Amino acid sequence: MRRNKLFEYENGIIRDESVLLETFIPTRLLHREGQLEALASCLRPVTKGRRPRNAFLYGPTGTGKTAMCLYVFEQLSSYTGMAKTIYINCWKNTTTHSILCELVANFGRFVHRREPVKELMLRFEGELRENRNRIVIIAFDEVDQLKDDRILYDLLRNGCGVICIANDEHALIDVDSRIKSSLQLERIEFPAYKEKEMYDILSDRAKLAFMPDSIEKKQIELAAKYSNGDARVGLEILRRAALLAEDECKKKIEDEHIERAWEQARFLRKDRMLEKLNDHEKILYRLVEDYKQISSGDLYQAYCSRVSLPVTERAYRKYMERLVHFGLVKARGEGRWREYIC
Ligand SMILES: Nc1ncnc2c1ncn2[C@@H]1O[C@H](COP(=O)(O)OP(=O)(O)OP(=O)(O)O)[C@@H](O)[C@H]1O
Ligand SMILES: [Mg+2]
Repeated sequence: MRRNKLFEYENGIIRDESVLLETFIPTRLLHREGQLEALASCLRPVTKGRRPRNAFLYGPTGTGKTAMCLYVFEQLSSYTGMAKTIYINCWKNTTTHSILCELVANFGRFVHRREPVKELMLRFEGELRENRNRIVIIAFDEVDQLKDDRILYDLLRNGCGVICIANDEHALIDVDSRIKSSLQLERIEFPAYKEKEMYDILSDRAKLAFMPDSIEKKQIELAAKYSNGDARVGLEILRRAALLAEDECKKKIEDEHIERAWEQARFLRKDRMLEKLNDHEKILYRLVEDYKQISSGDLYQAYCSRVSLPVTERAYRKYMERLVHFGLVKARGEGRWREYIC
């Protein structure tokens, strides 16, 4: 039977779109050799049956923190059977209860999620005893979303290794000082990528994702420039540009496709940041957005009249610092003259 050609791409550009998606774990992480060595050296003692050193990975969004952690976990597990690695996203699991559910489930046990915290802790400790020949390492991604840091202490007490990941290098500032001193975190910084580094990352990925000769150096350079140090944005520009070019039945991705893709992808970074805010921070951000420019005092008042249970002024200042740190709002002036601009 003759195939209907109606749905066939004449000159397909995309060979494998999955390579450009967030869920893809790259086989190598370019320009992260220092961070790779630092994290691997923290975990190396595990291969001799010793406790790892705990680590703190921090840096702006799209700089490879999550990818690095998952990559190293994969490498470690294929190198030795002496480690059990568990990855937890604290944005999805903010409470001790939900983290313990994840931990127990990771040992292949059934949890109906109605068990009390105490029972889950006992079950988890039971699993650790049963697996005493292995060292358990747990990564807490987006660790600033964690509601109760006591869980970190309980894990350390039970001999687990801990990796914390966050955007803000001060994310753990409020963690109880006793917990902090027993964590002894080794800090590993992930700075934003330089344009040249981003070019290498994007061209490496383009080779896997696209048909040969469907993108030139110049267009990858343009995507690298627009991505502004954020690999997530860079990859999304490539993916969208390829879809746009395919829709027009073009053989190659052109400048114009990259420009239009950037128009669509540039909000990705902001959306990602907004996702990470708590409810109060979201309200504060929306208020600054509405007012465009507002003094700190007026903003706090506007916020207090918007919510039934406002946070204290101290917490308010901390939330605003986070918004500034994420680049969502700008701050001008100090103390009572401070203003926020969006
Ligand atoms: N050095 C690199 N080489 C190849 N791909 C990379 C590199 N760094 C990041 N990526 C890719 O960029 C995307 C974003 O990276 P990742 O999710 O690790 O960022 P992140 O630092 O965890 O960001 P966020 O703080 O927003 O969670 C992923 O698809 C990842 O595979
Ligand atoms: Mg991440």
